[in-house]
Amino acid sequence: MTLTHGSSSEFSIETSTRPTSDVERQKILAKPGFGKHFTDHMVAIDWTLANGWHAPRIIPYGPLMLDPASLVLHYAQAIFEGLKAYQHADGSIWAFRPELNAARFAKSAERLGLPELPKELFLQSIQQLVGIDAKWLSQTPETSLYLRPFMIADESFLGVRGAEKVAFYVIASPAGPYFENGVSSIPIWVSAHHSRASKGGTGYAKCAGNYAGSLAPLQEARKNGCAQVLFLDAQHGQFLEELGGMNVFVVYKDGSLATPALSDSILAGVTRQSIIEIAKADGRRVDERQIGLEEVRTGLANGDITELFACGTAAVLFPISVLKSHSFSYSIPNAEAAKVSLSLRQKLTDIQYGREKNSGNWMRKLTSVHN
Ligand code: COI
Repeated sequence: MTLTHGSSSEFSIETSTRPTSDVERQKILAKPGFGKHFTDHMVAIDWTLANGWHAPRIIPYGPLMLDPASLVLHYAQAIFEGLKAYQHADGSIWAFRPELNAARFAKSAERLGLPELPKELFLQSIQQLVGIDAKWLSQTPETSLYLRPFMIADESFLGVRGAEKVAFYVIASPAGPYFENGVSSIPIWVSAHHSRASKGGTGYAKCAGNYAGSLAPLQEARKNGCAQVLFLDAQHGQFLEELGGMNVFVVYKDGSLATPALSDSILAGVTRQSIIEIAKADGRRVDERQIGLEEVRTGLANGDITELFACGTAAVLFPISVLKSHSFSYSIPNAEAAKVSLSLRQKLTDIQYGREKNSGNWMRKLTSVHN
């Protein structure tokens, strides 16, 4: 059966015969780190040009069998998403704004010449997986279940064209803080020689290739004592863009914020959008505009800019302590205090963990109370 827009699909379920033991799972959940451990199951759905999306299933988590000629291995026709599920105090499990991830996934698919996965199928997939692996959530503070939907071109073909055979998967990974040092402020390397994305390119899409291109600059950052890279615009090398896996914000002494305006070279972060909405609801002014590195330097020097922070699903929100490159180092005074940044973080996580209701129905219930 071909699955179409809006249709509700029957997932077949093959449960794992070798699930992680309770003892081992509890050990993992006590200190999950980020991206290191995976739950017992995954979602798989196939697509072919002839049959569309079909065969939705839950299967045991495990290696994929890929033909060495699979298009994805050669031409990187691959996209992904990142979103989190949270367990609330009553045991119920909720996803944060998954509709936005589904919509962005569709945009990424279009840019990469991949088929669109119907939004309902995206949402059902995460619901099914979290339902079967609900034991992998806990109420340990600052932990969640990170969901990683992805789509790859698994057709065996070496000609360069969009695949006629594709697979969609969702895997899930218990997550603690993205950085080992938790929520403390982070030094950022400003890449002088590499840009992440250019006009007309794939920067706004969540595609694997964007991340591959950020890895050499990240190695350079690490050599220079920094945890992440801030990329500047490709055309002028002057304007802030994003960190590759996170968006960036500037905080002014009057409590207002600015963040680079979205363009075809910046990913529309769900956390970015949520922070903008939370800040505005708080009465703060938020400008989405071009922000020059020079403006940041001057603002830090004369005290107009008081905080900088980065945010994303995996990393949540963390203050930036210094912007560094070969030729400069701009420190953010009292970065650890970062009052505005940390209050926005608190408001965001209060909604995510169900400590505060939000009027926009941002949380989508995936399962009710479980033991
Ligand atoms: C996320 O925040 O979900 C990301 O995709 C960033 C990174 C882990 C790739």
